[in-house]
Amino acid sequence: MWGTPKLTDSEKRILQGEEGIVKQKCMEYLVELCQISGAENLVDLDGTCDMHTPGFALSQHIVITYDELAEFANNGGRFAIPTFANKSPFGEQTPIHGWESCNVCSYRNPALRQDDPEFHEKALHKEEMDLLRKMGMITTHSCANYLTMSYLPGVGAQCAWFESSQMPYCNATLGARTNIDGSLATAILGKAANYGMHLTENRLGTILIETDRLIHTDMEWDVLGFAVGEACDVEVPVVTGTARPTTTQYQKFNSACQTGGAVSMYHLPGFTPEAPTIEHATGGRAFKDHILIDNAVLKATYESLNYHKTDKVDMVYLGCPHLNIVDLMLLTRKLEGKKCKIPLWIMTAPWLYNHAKELGYVDIFAKAGATLMSGACLAAMGAVPEGVECIAVDTAKQAQYITGCYAGDDDFLQVCYGSQDDCIDAALTGTWHGEWR
Ligand code: F3S
Repeated sequence: MWGTPKLTDSEKRILQGEEGIVKQKCMEYLVELCQISGAENLVDLDGTCDMHTPGFALSQHIVITYDELAEFANNGGRFAIPTFANKSPFGEQTPIHGWESCNVCSYRNPALRQDDPEFHEKALHKEEMDLLRKMGMITTHSCANYLTMSYLPGVGAQCAWFESSQMPYCNATLGARTNIDGSLATAILGKAANYGMHLTENRLGTILIETDRLIHTDMEWDVLGFAVGEACDVEVPVVTGTARPTTTQYQKFNSACQTGGAVSMYHLPGFTPEAPTIEHATGGRAFKDHILIDNAVLKATYESLNYHKTDKVDMVYLGCPHLNIVDLMLLTRKLEGKKCKIPLWIMTAPWLYNHAKELGYVDIFAKAGATLMSGACLAAMGAVPEGVECIAVDTAKQAQYITGCYAGDDDFLQVCYGSQDDCIDAALTGTWHGEWR
């Protein structure tokens, strides 16, 4: 535990409770975060906040009650910065769209099912969400809410985001600044503990990553991301040897490097905003290490993401992180006129679901026997439909998290990991033919 941070006079007044119990608890929490992280002060946020909702518990012992927050909101209390909701409300993580087809038991109580209207209604936490909306919460409900925010922070903007796949998106892809600090406290006070990625010196590249094959397919970006995470942990890699990433590839790389390790920031010289060159990325400092992630490492990483004894697949899940609108359009091309042999679930952000519906994609998927859903994912739900023992996925993050799900009969869920095309093939044939190519 480090010392108490230096607070301004107005921050001290908030800590003493002069602006009410809600702000006081928020400030207590931020002071605690400073003590844990070694932050010397708080940073004023001028970007956006992303938080898991409802999120009334700031820590194990600092909890804002519903009544306290209602009083705060009724007296005009509002979020200090634009604040967006990550995924569906915490707890059961029910899909926002497509829940009627979600024949998954609650992982907390197997007697309850996600496709039960009563269960779904309760899982939406309507009362708490209405209160948060009153305070300004924009209920995007997506782990990829940067796809639908329509208000993105610019280079250097101080933010408070939360989701693992979002942090590198904020830091590296956008050049804005965040730690994993999206919460009621940061949203209400518009301040965060000033450490880690909020500080310029911590954003400079520390490890040089090289590859021996040009990284350009979606799966290569995903596997490379996981391997970079495993190799770098919390360091800041400078990754060379890649083509310019597409939006989808940024999504995949970001989620994978935060899953293989805890990479919150990286540089792609020539592509990411803070790294026009390697020298800019490092600030002229020498690298601590130099790592070659060659084809053999990528292949081994790919194989480590596959945990299956059988090639008989029971279901396919796509949409980790939630798919963008171009991914959905491209998927309609792959599925139109075809018929899935096994269930294929496709997950997107709720606001994109509505666009997909208008564009006719929902019908195309339905005719092919696939289901478009939004706002959740199987890994977050912590369960798969009854009878599913082997699932195919196309992202390292989903592969990593979903494997922990119990599939019954003394066995954990088996996972086939591969490219989206390999997953579509599995959906159409019921058999896994994927391999590292
Ligand atoms: Fe999102 Fe679930 Fe993947 S929350 S990033 S789809 S594990």
